Amino acid sequence: MFSQVDAYPGDPILSLNEAFGHDPRPHKVNLSIGIYFDDDGRLPVMQAVRDAETAVLSDIGPRPYLPMAGTAAYRDAVQALVFGEHSAARREQRIATLQTLGGGGALRVGADFLKRYFRESTVWISDPSWDNHRVVFESAGFPVETYPYYDDATGGLRFDAMMQTIAALPPCSIVLLHACCHNPTGVDLSQSQWQALVPVLRERGLIAFVDMAYQGFGDGLDADAFAVRALTGAGVPTVVANSFSKNFSLYGERCGALSVVCATADEASRVFGQLTGTVRANYSNPPTHGARLVAQVLSTPPLRRAWEAELDSMRTRIATMRSQIHARLAPHVSGEKLSRYVAQRGMFTYTGLSAAQADTLRETHGVYLLRSGRMCVAGLNTRNVDTVAHAIAQVLTQ
Ligand code: LMR
Repeated sequence: MFSQVDAYPGDPILSLNEAFGHDPRPHKVNLSIGIYFDDDGRLPVMQAVRDAETAVLSDIGPRPYLPMAGTAAYRDAVQALVFGEHSAARREQRIATLQTLGGGGALRVGADFLKRYFRESTVWISDPSWDNHRVVFESAGFPVETYPYYDDATGGLRFDAMMQTIAALPPCSIVLLHACCHNPTGVDLSQSQWQALVPVLRERGLIAFVDMAYQGFGDGLDADAFAVRALTGAGVPTVVANSFSKNFSLYGERCGALSVVCATADEASRVFGQLTGTVRANYSNPPTHGARLVAQVLSTPPLRRAWEAELDSMRTRIATMRSQIHARLAPHVSGEKLSRYVAQRGMFTYTGLSAAQADTLRETHGVYLLRSGRMCVAGLNTRNVDTVAHAIAQVLTQ
């Protein structure tokens, strides 16, 4: 019956991460997947999360189904984090927010919802974007096109070309934007560039779909939400997918949220209803545990302070590793091919290494980067940075 089923070619990120797990070499280094490891190369359990979990486990009770949209406590805490406690849209109850299965689940629920109401729209993603963006939106039935974004010649942004393309899109086009810590390039819009882009989206009648998977890893929790808040404040129809995989180190709990900013409270209530219906059609309702931890940390002031401080230290450690790899590569790399290691933001640097060079790094040196040349800087530590720099230098001189 299933003889016609093709072999799955694998996912460029997750399959590589699995290959890393099977690699027997003890000196191997994983800079492939977007996961934050600490300086000992371990996946951290954040202290605030551990404390919340201890409290939750001591009070464990029955586990009924959650509502399709998740719990109100979680939805409210998340909305305040993403849009700001004092957001006007929030006060006016114009934001429909629901708990989702990670940021990926938020993208998919958002895509399915939009497909029902904007059948003719095309989704525009940055060139390049997270590999799975195209997969999710095409799976939901949308054509997916790209707008100019990354300039390999400078390691920076093709802002004028990006603006030109977006300014010519037909109304109701869906523009996928990365709020901060662009994946895979590490190149973000400045605040003034966002301020220039926002009116174009509004005047063209476009829908902004913002992916915010790395809040807190760029410049801080509020600074990283600048784009979301600027779009919301300007009245652009905005959909936001956010995730707690990275900033709570809760990857396997699949904690995320989807928010849709509407023009009125009445519209938001109907959108909320349709979103819950979309969840019912996919997986019925979300799981309990991770969301309970996130809600507890966000709404308990001492836990919240501890979480923010630990997140700050994660961001600082990444910056230190950026400086360290930059210093070690300085004798071998120059110009913007070197400066991008410190200029790019968040977990990723787009090294400019070719797929063949990434293959050599992996096969000969046990250093795993994506074949696009994306390096997860958050996988570097004081013990492996020399090995990585040495391996890159070798590959570059071959
Ligand atoms: C990544 O980009 O490496 C992460 O977001 C993990 C994933 O699911 O791809």
